[in-house]
This record gives sequence, structure tokens and C-alpha cells, in this order.
Amino acid sequence: MVNTPKRKAEHLKIISNSNVNFDQKTTGFENYQFIHNSLPEINFDDIDISEEFLGYKLSFPFLINSMTGGEKNGEELNRVLSKIANDEEIAFALGSIRPCLENSKTIKSYAITRQIAPDTPILGNIGAAQLLTYPAEIIRNVLNEIDVNGLCIHLNPLQEVLQPEGDKNFSGVTGKIKTLAEYLDIPIIIKEVGFGLPIQNIQDLKSFGIKWFDVSGAGGTSWAKVERHRNDNLINKKVAEEFAEFGLPTAEIISQAINIKDINLIASGGINSGITFAKAIAMGARLGGVAGILIQSWNKDGVSGIQNLIKIYKKTLKICLLITGKEKLDDFRNTTLKKIK
Ligand SMILES: Cc1cc2nc3c(=O)[nH]c(=O)nc-3n(C[C@H](O)[C@H](O)[C@H](O)COP(=O)(O)O)c2cc1C
Repeated sequence: MVNTPKRKAEHLKIISNSNVNFDQKTTGFENYQFIHNSLPEINFDDIDISEEFLGYKLSFPFLINSMTGGEKNGEELNRVLSKIANDEEIAFALGSIRPCLENSKTIKSYAITRQIAPDTPILGNIGAAQLLTYPAEIIRNVLNEIDVNGLCIHLNPLQEVLQPEGDKNFSGVTGKIKTLAEYLDIPIIIKEVGFGLPIQNIQDLKSFGIKWFDVSGAGGTSWAKVERHRNDNLINKKVAEEFAEFGLPTAEIISQAINIKDINLIASGGINSGITFAKAIAMGARLGGVAGILIQSWNKDGVSGIQNLIKIYKKTLKICLLITGKEKLDDFRNTTLKKIK
């Protein structure tokens, strides 16, 4: 039996205590600058940064990205994050439901989030490789019990092969994604885990009717570095090091994927400041998703650390609309950024 909760607990510990961010590679958002307007003719109080997402109104386009569930701290973190999501009217994605599929007793540590956050969208999460093991019906039953509004499917072959206990068979995964997308009556969001979704993968999966893509690019948490920490074997450690800086930068993917029609993009991977978040939205992302830095803030300053970070992102976004002379997000997107490098 795979011990997924133990692995998730190790991930949380490493991300809280070690530097596992990319060192050399950046998100690429520093290559863009806002087109500044010092005569905005707007009342700051009239600026509207609310966003519709899966039938819910968000106070601004922020997603607490997939992280927790199943491990020792999982239920506590799920409680904390879902309460913050409900209070701040933002979206919340759970970590992988794999522990629920392996042991149904863990379902309650996920299902608790719907009770705490009745007014905000909650997303489930599963790895594409696990679709080879678990039939669509079983996955749907677990998702129904947790009561989610959408399902993130993460594509993470590099992470899996760098994990000592990772799944290494990806043959047949595309067909399983298609089957699941047809079977479920909730939206699917395809995501990476920080190495970046290639444009070709987005185009291929769009043909199955999938409309949401979280690019989760390079520039934030490097999962090669995380897995390097977890590996005791010298060769495997060195191999993980080889990939420490691997991945497609977040801004590079968004700037290209924005030209693909009829899809919605979530910008994640290194959205570690309010200004980066605002640039991602300006580039055209529907939502910005944040993971690693929330855990680091929680570890350092507790619940208020996370709350403050979210408030900083929100205020920074609103100020960016003012200084670019826009009152609404739809006018702000695709019109207010220029490439400077
Ligand atoms: C502690 C932790 C656990 C994570 N677990 C999952 C997971 O279960 N499923 C998933 O799709 N992504 C998972 N991720 C990846 C994030 O959702 C995100 O794609 C990635 O960390 C890049 O974003 P960041 O730079 O903001 O951390 C996890 C991230 C962290 C920090």
C-alpha cells in the first residue's frame, strides 16, 4: 500500500522549512510592465475587481491552489484554508484525493471544507497517473461525498518519476482523462504542479471539451527540489538536482496560451507577490493561483500570515486597475501590460 498521507506530510514539512523555490529561473513576469496612466479619471472606490467562477462571485480572482488533505496536518489546514476562502470570498482547491481513494476514512478531512465554506467554490484534485488505477465511478462517488464544484487533474510525470514511490506508468492516461471528462458533470481543470503546462497539451485536451487550464509554471516551488530532499538514495538525489531548474516559466505559457480560443487560464507557479498576481490577471488569466508561499506564511505567522498576504494581493490588484485607468477586470485584461525585455 502506498503511504500517500506520509508523503503529503513530508511535502508540507519540506516546503515550510527549506528553500525549494527556483534559484535561477523566474516566472518571466519581471519582463512585463504596466502601461501607467497618471490621469485615470476614476474613483478608486468604484473599481470592481470581483470575478465570476463556476457560478460563484469571488471578491477578486484568487485561488488557494491544491495542496492539502489526508496527512496529519491535512484536516487542520483544510479547515484553516477553507475558512479563509469563505471569509475572503475566494476559490479553494483541495490537494489530491488519492488518500480518500486509498482509505475512505480520510474523506471526512476533505468533506469538512464544504461545511466550513458553503459560499465559495471548492475544487477536488487527482493525479492523471492515478486515473489508470481508479475507475471513473469511484472517483465520482468520492467527489460527490466531498461536494466539490470542479476537479483539477494534475499532470506531473516529472514529479512522479523523481519520487521514490511515484507512479511511473503514464501509458493510456490521455484516454482516461477523456473518459472522466465525459463522465463527470462538473468542470475539469487541467493543471501542472510547477513545471508548466505545454501549449500542445492544452490544445490536445481542449479537443475533449476541457475549458480550464492552470498553467502552474516554473518560477515558484520547484518540485524537483522538494523530491530531492525526500530522497535518501545518492543517485536519485543527484538526478533530482539535474531537474532543479526545469520548467516553462509561468508568464511564457500565459502569453502564448492567451491566443487559444474558448479556454480559461489560471495563472499559477511563482505568483509570490501582489504585483506578479496583478500582472498575471492583466495578461489575461481568469484567476491567479497561489500555493507554496501560503504554507510558508502559515508556518511563519499563522492564520494571519495567510490572511494578510491575500489582503495585500487584493489591494495591489485594485491599485493596478487605478494606475492603468481601468474600472473593471475585463477592461484591464489584455490591454494594460507591455513587454519591456
Ligand atoms: C504543500 C504542497 C502540496 C501540493 N500538493 C498538490 C496536490 O496534491 N495536487 C496538485 O495538483 N498540486 C499540488 N501542489 C502544487 C501546487 O498546486 C502548485 O501547482 C505548485 O506548487 C506551483 O505553485 P507555487 O509556486 O505557488 O507553489 C502542492 C503544492 C504545495 C506547496
